[in-house]
Amino acid sequence: MEIFDPFRGLGTLAIHAAEEENPFNTNVSPIYQSSIYRIPDVATGAAIFQRENPGYVYTRLSNPTLDQVAEKLAILEGVDLLRKEPQRPIEDVVRGRVFSSGMAAITTCILAKVPQGGVVIAQQALYSGTLKFLNESERYGFRVVWLTDPTLEDWEKAFASEPAAVLAYVESPVNPGMAVMDIAAVAEIAHRHNAWVLVDNTFATPYCQRPLTLGADLVVHSTTKYLNGHGLIIGGALISRHVQFMDNEVYEIHQTLGATSSPFDTWLLNNGLKTFEIRMERHCNNAMKIARFLEEHPAVERVNYPGLESFPYHEIASKQMSAYGGMMSFELKGGYKAGEWMMNHVRLCRLAVSLGHLDSLIEHPASMTHSKVDPVVREKSGITPGLVRFSVGIENVEDIIADLDQAMAMP
Ligand SMILES: Cc1ncc(COP(=O)(O)O)c(C=O)c1O
Repeated sequence: MEIFDPFRGLGTLAIHAAEEENPFNTNVSPIYQSSIYRIPDVATGAAIFQRENPGYVYTRLSNPTLDQVAEKLAILEGVDLLRKEPQRPIEDVVRGRVFSSGMAAITTCILAKVPQGGVVIAQQALYSGTLKFLNESERYGFRVVWLTDPTLEDWEKAFASEPAAVLAYVESPVNPGMAVMDIAAVAEIAHRHNAWVLVDNTFATPYCQRPLTLGADLVVHSTTKYLNGHGLIIGGALISRHVQFMDNEVYEIHQTLGATSSPFDTWLLNNGLKTFEIRMERHCNNAMKIARFLEEHPAVERVNYPGLESFPYHEIASKQMSAYGGMMSFELKGGYKAGEWMMNHVRLCRLAVSLGHLDSLIEHPASMTHSKVDPVVREKSGITPGLVRFSVGIENVEDIIADLDQAMAMP
């Protein structure tokens, strides 16, 4: 088959896109596990160093395995842009870069975009690592304006009163409350104020939602999660339709900070990606059944899952997502004690942080991932003492439901 055709399906692209021919025609793309490359002569080396000619000199700067997987991720997130203009070369439409972690992608991107004295307008509820970095923004020379569960009017007001704002930071659905932000509307507001929108698409993945299609400028991922899917690596990615920004500002900061993904981890990411679509299909189907089960369960106060009609963000989720994903959170009626009990009594689901792996992973934000977050901020972000975060795995759904049911049975 052709290596790339934007009209093929996402599952096909996850397997075949950017899988270049290689010297021995191995069907699985090779790992270029080398820190350096032979330079044939000084003039050639100089041209590569000056970035006048393509080529590789040092893996912190670039590496064929990393470039290949970055291109595949760019295709998966940017496929709708490529479908709109199939005659344009990929490299002019969308660009990806892979990083050593999701946090590396997030911090590099923000530092590349926001100048000294610049302002980021951000949701108050965000992944705790992102929250920590943005809380320390003054150390890096920029400021953050926080919005708590913002309406579109709040975004508008914030941009109108902050002329130095260059970036809106959005996570949708958000970790762990699952609130959904209207990406297209925030992008419209930000663009009117000459700012860009960055979306953390880790929870949704390009299977459920493609922010670039909705007007976002930048998409970040913790590839540690669904994109690798097997729990084998820590990794990150940044994808954007601003190819010059990616090739210049992001490239420069990335190589200076040195948050380079290892070729081996990136190769594992690529092999995980090959089952991406089929895994996501199962994650989403299982999650819908589990959300309905939990909604009816007497020990559960409320279920936060974008696919449930009862979820306040269901309408906007249905507008911008093509599937509702494998993540949810739910509130136990028994509060902190019930959360603790459940964590200690699951038998199939793993008590562990992270998400988006093959196996079902359960955690209790108040005592685990968000225990260091200021309790007031925690409360404002909907992280109540009885909140449980659940990453639905791809096991047989009856087995997951049976495990949750027995783990909630407190004496
Ligand atoms: C939504 C979200 N964004 C970013 C990250 C950070 O990713 P990493 O742990 O790969 O640095 C995480 C990690 O849990 C996350 O859940």
